[in-house]
Amino acid sequence: MEDYVKLEYKGEVYRLPVVTGSEGEKSVDISKLRQVTGFITLDPGYANTGSCSSAITFMDGEKGILRYRGIPVEQLAEKATFKETAYLLINGRLPNQEELTNYSILLNDHSLVHEDMRSFYQKFPRASHPMGILSSMVNALRSFYPALADIEEESTIMVTRLLAKVRTMAAMSYKISRGHRVVYPRSDLAYCANFLNMMFDSPVRPYELNEDVTNALRVFWILHADHEQNCSTSAVRIVGSARTNLYAAISAGIAALWGPLHGGANQAVIEMLSDIQRDGGSIEHVVKRAKDKNDPFRLMGFGHRVYKTYDPRAKIMKKMCDTLLPKLTIRDPLLDIAKKLEETARKDNYFIEHNLYPNVDFYSGIVLRAIGIPTNMFTVMFAIGRLPGWIAQWKESMYDPNWKLSRPRQIYTGPTETEFIPIHQR
Ligand code: SDX
Repeated sequence: MEDYVKLEYKGEVYRLPVVTGSEGEKSVDISKLRQVTGFITLDPGYANTGSCSSAITFMDGEKGILRYRGIPVEQLAEKATFKETAYLLINGRLPNQEELTNYSILLNDHSLVHEDMRSFYQKFPRASHPMGILSSMVNALRSFYPALADIEEESTIMVTRLLAKVRTMAAMSYKISRGHRVVYPRSDLAYCANFLNMMFDSPVRPYELNEDVTNALRVFWILHADHEQNCSTSAVRIVGSARTNLYAAISAGIAALWGPLHGGANQAVIEMLSDIQRDGGSIEHVVKRAKDKNDPFRLMGFGHRVYKTYDPRAKIMKKMCDTLLPKLTIRDPLLDIAKKLEETARKDNYFIEHNLYPNVDFYSGIVLRAIGIPTNMFTVMFAIGRLPGWIAQWKESMYDPNWKLSRPRQIYTGPTETEFIPIHQR
C-alpha cells in the first residue's frame, strides 16, 4: 500500500509519497511538489533535506552509529586495511585476495606524479596552505591525463590515478615547501607506510617505519573515509552533477573540506588548544566564550550537524591517543588540555542542552602530531582519508538513473520590479 503524507493549504489537500530507507528512516518525496502545489521548500543548510538516496554509508546521529556498506566503522578500524576500506566503499563489497592484490598493483603503477607537475609546486609561495595546493593540483590532473576514449576505462583509471597519486601529491607539497628533495613512492611499501616514507624519508636520515605509527595512520584514514552527505561530499556531487570530470569534482570537495567548520576543524582544534596552553590554560574562559551568543568563537572539534551524541570516530581517536602516545614515549600537554576541556564542556548545561559532544576532529590532531604531521597538513590528511568516500559518492551519482543536474531554488526577498534610472537622474 502506498505510504504518503497529506499537505493541506487553504482547503486544498495534497498527497506526497513517503520514501523509507533500509534502516527505517522516513522522507517525504517532494520531487513533484512545485508541479503539484506551486510551493517549494525552504531549508537553509539543508539540515532537513535529503539530496539523494545512497547505499554507501549509514549514520544514526542519535545512537552514534557509522557503517560503510553495512560494516560498523569500529570493525573496519580494528581489522581492515585502508585499501580494503577504499575498495569496499567504491565497489560496494570487500575484495577477495586476488582482487586486493590486483588493486595494490594498480595503485602502485599509478602512484607517480607527472614530472612536469613539479614546476607547478615550485611556483606556489612557500607559505601557501597545502589544501589550496592540493585542490589546485588535483584539478590540474585533467591537463596532464586527458580523457580516454572508452568511458568505462576512463572512469576506472581516473579513480585509480586519484587514489594512487593523492598521497604522492600531498607529500610533494610538504617536501617542496621545505626545500627538500621529493621522495618517490616505493613498490615494496603498503599504502600508509608509503605515504609516511614519502613525507619523512631523507638522504641524510632514512625514515624508520614504526608499525604503531603506520597503524595509527591506517585507523585515522579509515575513520575519515566517508560520512554520507557532508558539506564536501555534497560539493563533489553537485559539481559532478554538471557532468564535469572527476578531478574537478574532487578539487571542489577539497576546497569545501578546507573550511574550519568542516575538515579544517582538525587544524583549528590544535590552534585552540595551543592558545589555551599559551594563555595559561584558562579552560573556563574558552567555554564561556563558546557559550557567548555575541562571540563568534566556537569550541572547535565540538558539535555536529548529525551526531547529537558522541561521534563514534572521536571515541576511537581518543583511545588512539591513550595507546599511541605512551608507545612513542610522547607526552603531549595538549592532550591533557583537550581532556580537561571535554570534561568541563560536557558538564556544562549549554553543551548538554545543545547536544554538543566531541566530533572526529577533537582528538585527531593529537594523533597526527604524534605521527609527526605538521599542523597545516592536518586537513590534507583528512582529504586523503575522505577521497575513497568522495569517489564512491561521485560514482554512485554518475550511475543513478534518477540523478539530475543539482540546481536548488530560492525564496526571493529583493525589490519588486523597478525602472532603470539614467545616471544624470541619480
Ligand atoms: C566535520 O557533516 C559531517 O559529517 C562533517 C564531518 C565529516 O566527517 O564529513 O563529520 C567532519 O566537519 C565535523 C565538524 C567539524 N567542525 C567543528 O568542529 C567546528 C565547530 N562546530 C560547530 O561550528 C558546529 O557544531 C557545526 C558547524 C559542526 C554544526 O553546526 P550546525 O549543525 O550548523 O548547528 P548550528 O551551528 O546551527 O548550532 C546549533 C546550536 C547553536 O546555538 P543556538 O543559536 O541554537 O543557541 O549549537 C551551538 C550554536 O551556537 N553550537 C555551538 C557549537 N556547535 C554548535 N556552540 C559552541 N561551540 C560549538 N562548537
